[in-house]
Formats: sequence, C-alpha cells, structure tokens
Amino acid sequence: MAVTGIILVLFLILHMLGNLKIFTGETSFDHYAHWLREIGTPLLPSTWYLWIQRTVLTVAVVAHIVSATVLAVRARAARPVAYAHRRKIHVNYAARTMRWGGVIILLFVIYHILDLTTGHLNPQGDPANPYGNVVQDFAADRWYVTLFYTLAIVTLGFHLRHGAFSAFRSLGQQTPKGERRARAAALVFAVALCVGYLVVPFAVLTGLVA
Ligand code: HEM
Repeated sequence: MAVTGIILVLFLILHMLGNLKIFTGETSFDHYAHWLREIGTPLLPSTWYLWIQRTVLTVAVVAHIVSATVLAVRARAARPVAYAHRRKIHVNYAARTMRWGGVIILLFVIYHILDLTTGHLNPQGDPANPYGNVVQDFAADRWYVTLFYTLAIVTLGFHLRHGAFSAFRSLGQQTPKGERRARAAALVFAVALCVGYLVVPFAVLTGLVA
C-alpha cells in the first residue's frame, strides 16, 4: 500500500505543480504540455517517457487496489466471527471512506483522461491546445464540470489525509504527541493539495484565466 501510495502521491504533487503553470499563460502552458511529450529525448524517442510513466502509474494503481483487497480479506479472516459487542473506537470520516473514496477517485481518473487527455468528453478536445481544453472545460456555463471536479478532489483530499496520516504514523509517530503531529501534517498536506488543484477550475470559472 505504502510504496504504491508514495508513487501516486509523487505524481499528484508534480501534476498539481504542472497545472499551476496555467497562470503563466497559454503559450507557456501549451509549451509545458508539449515538453511532457519530449522528456528524455533524444536518448528516448518522443513520448516514450510519457508511456513509461503511464505504465508505472497503471501498475501502481492496480497494485494499490490489490494490496487494499488483500489487507481487507486478511483482516476479515483474522476475525471471522463478528464482535458481539463492538467497542466504540474513534475512526474519523477519512478512515471510514477509504474504500468508496478510492472507487470514486478511480472513476474520476477514467473520466478525467477521456476529458483532458484523449479529449473525447471535452468541448474542444484539441491535443495541440491543452490550455484551450482546460478553459473550455471549466467555462461558467459548464459549472457542473467544476462541481464534479470539486467533489472528486475533495474525496481525494480525504483519501490522502488518511493515507498520509497512516504513512507518518508508520514512520514512527506513535506516541500521543507524535500522532497529533502526524494528524496535523496529514491535514496540511491534504488541504494544500486540494487547494492547489481546485484553484485551476475556479480561476477559469471566475474568468481569472480565460
Ligand atoms: C482541477 C484539477 C486538474 C486539472 C486542471 C488537470 C489537468 C490535466 C490536463 C490538462 C491533463 C492533460 C495533460 C496533457 O495531455 O498534456 C491531465 C492529465 C492527467 N491527469 Fe489531471 N488535472 C487535474 C486533476 C487531476 C487529478 C486529481 C488526478 C488524479 C487523481 C489527475 C490525473 C491525471 C492523469 C492520470 C492524467 C493523464 C496523464 C497522461 O497523459 O499520462 N488529474 N490533467
């Protein structure tokens, strides 16, 4: 869970930073998107790096889901008979929604790729003009797209908050003070990532990026 989670989080941080380049203007953003296809050249042919990254991400997503399933099955096997009296333990919202949160994020990613990578669900869908694709996508009259992205990204935030908290705790923050510190760090990280993603659709929706 942890290794694949770290790979996916690294991608999420880099992708968020890349998206923020939209504030540097159309030419710069489109140039950045073009550069993504040229990473590793001339050592590698054009787009090879991108395909290696796509393969690594796909394997990481599949392994993340398989690990989660194995852990859930193992946990159930360890306690085949349900507790007669279930002790009330404090489990927060983020921890309780990991499974369904994960499913929603996966469905979002499939939609998102059809929207902004292949362009099938995008009003413009021009691979040579990713800036235009983003601007058309989050236009004010398509507010429901921004709403959907917002719900998906907030779900991602909850998922990351619990994932990051578990990771920090595994790294040794197991005293009460350490737990508090891990909880706070996970919250700051999740909020920063959500804000970093959400400013883009909201900047388009409000006309700041046009
Ligand atoms: C509002 C937030 C987001 C915006 C504006 C955005 C924007 C984009 C754009 C423009 C592309 C196409 C890049 C290109 O082909 O040059 C893209 C691809 C992608 N995005 Fe996002 N994205 C957002 C959120 C997310 C989130 C939350 C995830 C993951 C949970 C994600 C995962 C991906 C993936 C996997 C690709 C495909 C990369 C590839 O071509 O291999 N994105 N995104």
